[in-house]
Amino acid sequence: MLSKAVLTLVLATVTSVRAVWPIPATIETGDKTLWIGEALSVTYNGDKVCWRPTSNNHPCPLDDDTMDTNVGSLFWQLPWIRNYVAVGGPKFSSKEIVKGGVSRAMEAILDDNFVPWKLYPRLELESTEPSLRKPKTYVSCLDITQTGKDTAKTFKPLAGDVDESYNLTLGTDGKAAISAVSSIGVLRGLETFTQLFFQHSQGPIYTTKAPVKITDAPQYDHRGVLMDVSRNYLPLDTIYRTIDAMSWNKLNRLHIHATDSQSWPLEIPALPELHQKGAYAKGKTYSPKDIAAIHTYAIQRGVEAIVEIDTPGHFGIVALSHPELITGWGATPWSSYCAEPPCGQIQLNNPKTDAFFDKLMDDLLPRLSPYSAYFHTGGDEVNFNEYTLDPTVGTNDSAVIVPLLQKFIDKHHARVRKAGLVPMVWEEIPASYNVTIGEDVVVQSWLGDEAIKSLTGQGHKVITSNYNYWYLDCGRGQWLNIPEGEALEANWPFNDWCGPTKSWRLVYSYDPRAGLTDDEAALVLGGEVGAWAETIDEVNLDSILWPRSSAAGEVLWSGRTDSAGENRTQFDAAPRLAEFRERMLARGVRADPVYMTFCTQGGNATTCSL
Ligand SMILES: *[C@@H]1O[C@H](CO)[C@@H](O)[C@H](O)[C@H]1NC(C)=O
Ligand SMILES: *[C@@H]1O[C@H](CO)[C@@H](O)[C@H](O)[C@H]1NC(C)=O
Ligand SMILES: *[C@@H]1O[C@H](CO)[C@@H](O)[C@H](O)[C@H]1NC(C)=O
Ligand SMILES: *[C@@H]1O[C@H](CO)[C@@H](O)[C@H](O)[C@H]1NC(C)=O
Ligand SMILES: *[C@@H]1O[C@H](CO)[C@@H](O)[C@H](O)[C@H]1NC(C)=O
Repeated sequence: MLSKAVLTLVLATVTSVRAVWPIPATIETGDKTLWIGEALSVTYNGDKVCWRPTSNNHPCPLDDDTMDTNVGSLFWQLPWIRNYVAVGGPKFSSKEIVKGGVSRAMEAILDDNFVPWKLYPRLELESTEPSLRKPKTYVSCLDITQTGKDTAKTFKPLAGDVDESYNLTLGTDGKAAISAVSSIGVLRGLETFTQLFFQHSQGPIYTTKAPVKITDAPQYDHRGVLMDVSRNYLPLDTIYRTIDAMSWNKLNRLHIHATDSQSWPLEIPALPELHQKGAYAKGKTYSPKDIAAIHTYAIQRGVEAIVEIDTPGHFGIVALSHPELITGWGATPWSSYCAEPPCGQIQLNNPKTDAFFDKLMDDLLPRLSPYSAYFHTGGDEVNFNEYTLDPTVGTNDSAVIVPLLQKFIDKHHARVRKAGLVPMVWEEIPASYNVTIGEDVVVQSWLGDEAIKSLTGQGHKVITSNYNYWYLDCGRGQWLNIPEGEALEANWPFNDWCGPTKSWRLVYSYDPRAGLTDDEAALVLGGEVGAWAETIDEVNLDSILWPRSSAAGEVLWSGRTDSAGENRTQFDAAPRLAEFRERMLARGVRADPVYMTFCTQGGNATTCSL
C-alpha cells in the first residue's frame, strides 16, 4: 500500500509539473496547493481591474468602461476628442486590452476549467486531488505591472515592434504578480496563469504548483495561422473562435487568404460586382464592417490579422465580373494552365489592369492600414502557360513575361507602401520568377529548407510555411475525382500531392532555422501553419488546426531547442500538449486528442513510446 501511495505521488508529480504550453523560457514550480475564486482582486499598475465573471457577481462601475488610452493624458478624456478619434480610426486602450485579458483568463479559470481525470492514473483522481476539508489558502491578488508604454505600433506591429515578454510569480501566500513591458506581454502572461489551475471533481478551482516563478519571451516575432476563406467560406464565429485559440497558444498573426480563383467573399464597396458575382452565395461575404470587427477582435487578443489578395495567379474568379481583365478563366485541361481548377490569372499587359488595381487597393488598403502593418500580395504559382492565352502577352516565354511581372509587382507594392503597409509575397516572386522586390518585403516560403536558406542568403526577410511540415491540409487524401480505368489504378490509393499527414509530431520536429548561418537565421521572422481549404470548412477547422498549430506555436514561441541547445522531445511535449488539449476543449475548441487516455493516464511519457 505504502509503495503504491509513493508511486502515485511520483507519477502525479511527473504528470502535472511544468505543464504549460507553450513552455516558458524558465519555469519553477512547487507542490503547494492554492485555491482561487471570485474574490480575487486584480490590479493593473495599481488601479483595480474590474473583471467580468460570467456570473456577473462583480458589477463594474460604469466609468470603468470609458475609453482610456495608451497615452493616458487628460486630453483623451474629453468626450468629443474620443468621438473624433473613434470617427478618425480605431484607438486601442492598454487598460481595456488588459481588462479584457483578465476577464477571459478568469472565465477560463473559473467557468471553463476541467477536471483532470485523464492526467492521473486510472480511478485515482480523487485520491490525488487536494483535500477540501483542510484549511484553504486562496489566491488573493493578481497584481499586473506594465513597465513600458504601448504605442500605436503595439496594436499594428511589424515583426519586432512589440516586446511580448512577461514575468509571472505566484507565492504560497496567495499573491500573484505579472509584469510585462507591453499590454500584449500581459495577455501572454495571463494565458500562462490560466494554465496553472484545475477544477476539483467537487467543483472548486485549485493549483498544486505554488510557488511558481516564470520568465518568458518568444523566440520568433511572427507566429501565425493561414486561414483560407476563399475555397470554402468560413463564418465569422469560426474566425473568432480561431483567434481565441490562437491567443491561448500565444500565436500572434492570422493570415487571411481572402480571395482565390474559387470565390471572392470580400466586399469591396468601390467594386461591388466582385462579391456580387464572385461569392459562393448571397451573404457568404465579409463586409468592411466584418473585416474591421475581425481586426478589432484579433487586436484585443494580441493577434494581428493580415489580409491576402492573391495575384496575379489564383485570381480567376474576377472573370465573373471583369472578364476583360482575366486570362485563361476555366481553361482546360486545367493542369496545363494552373495548379488547380478553375484557372485564371490577371492579364499582365492590359492597361485596364492598373486602373482596376488602383480602384481595388484605394478602397481596401485604407480600411486595413488602421489595424495591420502588412498586406499580403500573394504571388504563388503564376502559370506562364496561361499567358499563351492572354491576348496582351501571347507567349509563355519568361523573357517576355518576367519584365511584365516585374512592372506589375513594382506598381502593386507601391500601392501597398502608399497606404502605409508593408508588402508580403509568396516566395516564387523573387525565387522562381527572379522578380526584384524591395528590402522591406516579407517573403513567405512554402517550398522548404533549401528555399529558406537561399532566400535569407539573398537578404530577404522570411516567414516559413514549409509544406513538408506545416501544411495542415496535407495527407488527407485526394479531393479531385479520378475516372475509372487506368487513371484510377495509377492514382490508387488517392493520396494528395503533399502527404503524409503533418501530425503534431511532424509539425513539432520542424526547426525554421535549421541549417542556417546566424545571419540567415536572423532574417527568419517566424512562420505560419497553412490550412488550405479544399476539404476544410467550419465543421472540421478546429480539429484540422488544433492541437497541431499548438505544436507549431511552441516551436515559434519557445524554440525547437531548449536553453541547453537540445531538441525538445516528444516525451516532454506529449503530456503537456495532452493537458493543453483538454484546456482547449474546455474553452470551446474541438481539438483532436494527442493520444489515447491510456497514455495520458500512464503516469509518464515512456508508457507510450517506441
Ligand atoms: C523579468 O525578470 C527578469 C529577471 O529575471 C528581468 O530582467 C526583467 O526585466 C523582468 N521583466 C519585466 C517586464 O519585469
Ligand atoms: C510554352 O508554350 C508552347 C506552345 O505554346 C508549348 O509547346 C510549351 O510546352 C510551353 N512551355 C512550357 C514550359 O509549358
Ligand atoms: C530565374 O533565375 C534562375 C537562375 O538564374 C533560372 O534558372 C530561372 O530559369 C530564372 N527564372 C525565370 C522565370 O526567368
Ligand atoms: C534536432 O532536430 C533537427 C530537426 O529539427 C534534426 O535535424 C536533428 O538531427 C535533431 N538533433 C538530434 C540530436 O536529434
Ligand atoms: C515510467 O513508467 C514506466 C512504466 O510504464 C516505468 O517502468 C518507468 O520507470 C517510469 N519512468 C519514470 C521516470 O518514472
